[in-house]
Amino acid sequence: MAKEKNIYVCSECGGTSAKWLGKCPSCGAWNTLVEQSASAVSGGNNRFGNTAQFASLAGSSELMLLSEIEAVDIARTPTGLDELDRVLGGGIVAGGVTLIGGDPGIGKSTLLLQAVDALQRAGQNALYVTGEESGAQVALRSKRLGLSQSQVQVMAEIQLEKILATLDASRPTIAVIDSIQTVYSDQLTSAPGSVAQVRECAAHLTRFAKTSGTAVVLVGHVTKEGALAGPRVLEHMVDTVLYFEGDTHSSFRLVRAIKNRFGAVNEIGVFAMTERGLKGVTNPSAIFLSQHSEPVPGSVVLVTLEGTRPMLVEIQALVDNGGPSPRRLSVGLDRDRLAMLLAVLHRHAGVACMDQDVFVNAVGGVRIGEPAADLAVMLAITSSLRGKPMPKGFIAFGEVGLAGEVRPAPRGQERLREAAKLGFSVAIVPKANAPKKGARDFEGLTIHAVDRIEEAMDVVRTLA
Ligand code: TYD
Ligand code: MG
Repeated sequence: MAKEKNIYVCSECGGTSAKWLGKCPSCGAWNTLVEQSASAVSGGNNRFGNTAQFASLAGSSELMLLSEIEAVDIARTPTGLDELDRVLGGGIVAGGVTLIGGDPGIGKSTLLLQAVDALQRAGQNALYVTGEESGAQVALRSKRLGLSQSQVQVMAEIQLEKILATLDASRPTIAVIDSIQTVYSDQLTSAPGSVAQVRECAAHLTRFAKTSGTAVVLVGHVTKEGALAGPRVLEHMVDTVLYFEGDTHSSFRLVRAIKNRFGAVNEIGVFAMTERGLKGVTNPSAIFLSQHSEPVPGSVVLVTLEGTRPMLVEIQALVDNGGPSPRRLSVGLDRDRLAMLLAVLHRHAGVACMDQDVFVNAVGGVRIGEPAADLAVMLAITSSLRGKPMPKGFIAFGEVGLAGEVRPAPRGQERLREAAKLGFSVAIVPKANAPKKGARDFEGLTIHAVDRIEEAMDVVRTLA
């Protein structure tokens, strides 16, 4: 067979080129062109690909009025792991494709093995394709998890065509591919794990899911920068993207939905890694607090709202004399946002950190994306700079704008209630989040409502 002509596709923008170039001619990104089989990209007669490739989607092309289309609720099959079902929006969906990413060793294979076993026990036909570990290694893990009698079918295979043939023959309810980076197709010359292979294999598996109704779960590795290795297009291709977060040194793991066509995003599931696998944590609000016997400078507890549950996370800051070009580093928080908050602190509250190194960390390996963390970060920085701890039982939340205004956080009452429940006693919160007038004392929590960052600093001085 004559070798097919391959072309080069940009993994950032999808632009194509006939030959390899260092810089993408379409979007200008460097080093993003990867080889791909020409038929997969431009076969048939349009640039969306081989027309036969999408034949299965071409069945119903007559026009319909939106109001006449019946809105059927998607049927979900609960996995039996409550925290996983929570992030999935209730369970797995027939024909749905889920991508689950995370650092090596964080627990992806463990979680999925537990999930497929639970599904198998509930009478579903489950298939686990392992490309990274041998069948014996998977068996060893399942024994460790106490699942030695598991009826889950296991296939140790990395060749796409063979996997697809087996899937087609057995038509399981759920198939796990662990991991997509190990799968390769004969159609491409590039190595397994390369962008072209990952993209091509994921496309085939997605198509299989849509035509067969099998729920497919793809395990993906993440790069050092925290993005899924391989093209970003993977995220667009699938229905649900879940990320594992957490510090591999602590036992807690978060599974976060980044994208979900069948449920809410930013919902999180919380697990604890035990010697018998991952166990759901139903009440996670206090797990990200480090235990200081006495308050220490630079530490402020933030009440964050992840998905539907409030959680308390300790924010730590260290401000220390820097060299000629001081460093700003953040772990679990956005670095650009940190730079912005430092500018606001300087301009509106007169707190200058220009010549200081500033390090900020969210304890426990959580990633905090919501701006409601601003106030806690700024208070932690100020506390570290002045070497003065915040009072015992102190919490804060609220977004801070460039003009120095403190903006309300969504669902403030819920956050306050959670903090009060956990025994916190003093809070600085945005005015709009304070309980109705007069109620400064909220279930044992003394609340200081502020409108501006200067006011927050004044309150801190009275507290110390
Ligand atoms: P694993 O699921 O293999 O990670 P991934 O597939 O994301 O790379 O996670 C394995 C880690 O979890 C490993 O470091 C050992 C630990 N572990 C436990 O602590 N308890 C267990 O019951 C199992 C199976 C693993
Ligand atoms: Mg694994």
